[in-house]
Amino acid sequence: MAKPEKHVFVCTQGRPAGHPRSSCADRGCAAVYDEFLWNLQERNLFNRIQVTATGCMGPCSEGPSVLVYPEGVMYSGVTRADVAAIFDEHLEGNHPLERLQVSSEFWG
Ligand code: FES
Repeated sequence: MAKPEKHVFVCTQGRPAGHPRSSCADRGCAAVYDEFLWNLQERNLFNRIQVTATGCMGPCSEGPSVLVYPEGVMYSGVTRADVAAIFDEHLEGNHPLERLQVSSEFWG
């Protein structure tokens, strides 16, 4: 397998009902993860970009959280509708989106 140019981690962490911390699962991360996989296939980027479902990355209250390396850019509040823009502008265009980046309070 070729080393990917970019690696996208999508938080898919859930927590039991009544848990004091919210989770990305409570905020729709499953649909976001599916949309990343769909775009990866539609754009035929398997040799350049890797998408991995992962556990909690910290900013649970701001989720769904998505982290892109090698830049180390953390997106928050990502919806299914945002995923195409992340592909267009960041993953293929090399310009991380400002509007979705989590505040430095959580990642900085
Ligand atoms: S549950 Fe997704 S960042 Fe914590």
